[in-house]
Formats: sequence, structure tokens, C-alpha cells
Amino acid sequence: MKECVLVTGGAGFIGSHTAVELVNAGYDVVIVDDLSNSDMNAVEGIRRITGADVPMEVVDCCDYHAMSEVFKKYNFNSIIHFAASKAVGESVVKPLLYYRNNITSLLNVLELMRDNGVDNLVFSSSCTVYGEPDVLPVTEQTPRKPANSPYGNTKQICEDILRDTIAAHPQIKGIALRYFNPIGAHPSALIGELPKGVPGNLVPFITQTAAGLREELSVFGDDYNTPDGSAVRDYIDVTDLAKAHVAAMARMTEGRSKSGYEIFNVGTGNGLSVLELVNKFQEVNNLKIKYKIVGRRAGDIEKIWADTSYANKELGWTAKVPIEETLRSAWAWEKNIRNIE
Ligand code: UD1
Repeated sequence: MKECVLVTGGAGFIGSHTAVELVNAGYDVVIVDDLSNSDMNAVEGIRRITGADVPMEVVDCCDYHAMSEVFKKYNFNSIIHFAASKAVGESVVKPLLYYRNNITSLLNVLELMRDNGVDNLVFSSSCTVYGEPDVLPVTEQTPRKPANSPYGNTKQICEDILRDTIAAHPQIKGIALRYFNPIGAHPSALIGELPKGVPGNLVPFITQTAAGLREELSVFGDDYNTPDGSAVRDYIDVTDLAKAHVAAMARMTEGRSKSGYEIFNVGTGNGLSVLELVNKFQEVNNLKIKYKIVGRRAGDIEKIWADTSYANKELGWTAKVPIEETLRSAWAWEKNIRNIE
């Protein structure tokens, strides 16, 4: 019988791509999403790409009662928990919203796992838990630094909740994936990143500027201690990232985990500066976007990229999609949703 995976936040950017890869890998998928930062088009996209009639429940993971009904309706073997609020800047202004959403939803998922005998969880963590690292690249052993935003703090707290819960309930297994910077879209251009309002992240801002929705990109800072002065990140293709979830899920269900709770960096291992990324985007898509250099953005770090050797070896997974292809897919998706030829 097929394994059934609950994907919370499955209509979102990373969740939708992961749902596709899970179905492709032979899992049954059920999506729960409250559509607060996503819409049904993503679910339609998943269904079109996979040809599977993936069930979707419009439920807020913070609603314990509604979630317990979902657990009664289906027979889950495993869960991938994406559902969370994720805008760093907004989290500074609305910390209570972030603490409530991100922590309550994980507590509900864990309690329902314990009470319904569901044993495997993949959790969306973030490289933000490393803060501004002293040594690069960062490994999973690199010490976490105090978070510089409530959002980052929720990721640290959720990792700790997971660790403590698994220590007390050894039948539960968990893997936290620390994502670096996910970008790009599915090669079909049927699903991709669609932030509501003005994009806070770099690539959606670039594609919306190219599409004429935004006047000009602001590059936040050119006075960092990096080769061209702009900040450096590890940009990972969202399909590669999605496949890391499938590898993590298989590791747990096939009993290959080395301990109940494991952590993996999910990046490419390559650092790219903001200006390098902007230039590559222009080059591979053969267009120009207007940009200006402005001051640094509060809370930003200078540079971070992943040591991915542990994930490569243990998960048998490596990021494969070249950055050029990723930046082409990001633009193809933006053109598709804006009806640009
Ligand atoms: C941040 C979080 C990350 C979180 C992600 C989700 C930190 C350190 N990182 O990533 O944990 O998962 O958001 O939203 O908190 N930039 C511009 N102009 C723009 C937008 C961005 O120059 O209009 C620059 C930023 O200054 C940064 C880089 O582009 O140097 C990437 O920014 P962004 O896409 O927002 O991701 P992070 O801040 O790295």
C-alpha cells in the first residue's frame, strides 16, 4: 500500500513543489493549507503536473479541532510541516502573530502525531538559525547564534520543541531541513513563487521588476566584506529542495535514520552575491532590469553558504539544477502568470 503523507502548507512555494515530487516518487499526498499566503491555483498546478487528484483541506494548522478532524479522515504515515509565516520584516512588527502561528501549528501537529500513531515528521527549518556565522561554510555542527528576528527565533524554538518531543516519545522520528535560499519554479511553469503584496525576497522582486510590476530593484548594500560588496547567499533551486524532502522522508520510513532527530543543511554549497545574481538573471533571460544601490537592510547578514557534505552523504541527495536554469524557470513562471509572451 502507498504511504500517505500530510503536507501542511502544501499550496505554498516550497510545499507545492514538494507535493509534486512526493507524488512523482509514489507517495499519496494530502494537502492542508489555510490559503493565507497562497491560493488554489497552486493546488490545480500540482494536479495538472502530476495527473493525481491530490486532496486539499482548507484548514489552519493552529485550529486543533479542525486538524484533528483531518487526522480522523485520512490515515497518515508521515507529515511534512511547511505551514508557517515567513517574512522576516513582518515578524519584527507582529511578533505575536509569528509566535502563535509557527509554534502553535507545530505543537498541534506533534500532539496529533502522538495521539494518532503517526511517526515521521520533516520540519522546515532555515539557515537563519546560524545568524551571522564566524566560519564558512556552515555545517550542521556550527553553533546556532541568537536569532535576529522573531521569525528566526520561531525556527530555533521549533527545532528545540522537536528535539525534546522526540526525546520523550521515541516512536516519533524527525528531520529538520535547514533551507538556504530557495528560488526558481517548476520547469512546467505551472507552479512557482507568488508572494502576496510587495515581495520581500530578492528573486520575486527581480521577476516582478522584469515584468513591469515594480519600477526598480533596490540592492540592499554594496559595502559588505564580499568581492563586489553585496551580500552573499546560497541560492537553491526549489525542485532540488523539494527532492531533499523526499530523500528525508524515505530515510525515516525505511529505517535509515541514525537517531530519532536529525538535522541537514539543504543548499548548493555555492555562495552568490546579490549583484552576481542580478547579472546572471539578466544574462540568461536576455533582458535588463532597472536597479539602484541603497543602504543595507536591517537584520541582514553579510554572507552565508552551506557545507552540504553531510546531506549529500547521508541523504544521498545533491543539488543538481544549474543556477542559470533556475533563473530561467523563475522568469518563465512570472511570464506565465502575467500573460507575457
Ligand atoms: C530571509 C531569511 C531566511 C528566510 C527567508 C524567507 C535571514 C538571514 N534569512 O532570507 O531565513 O527563510 O528570508 O523569506 O533572516 N535583497 C535585495 N533587494 C531586495 C530583496 C533582497 O538586495 O529587494 C537582498 C537581501 O539584502 C539579501 C539577498 O537579497 O542579501 C536575499 O534576500 P532574501 O531573498 O530576502 O532572503 P534572505 O534575507 O537571505
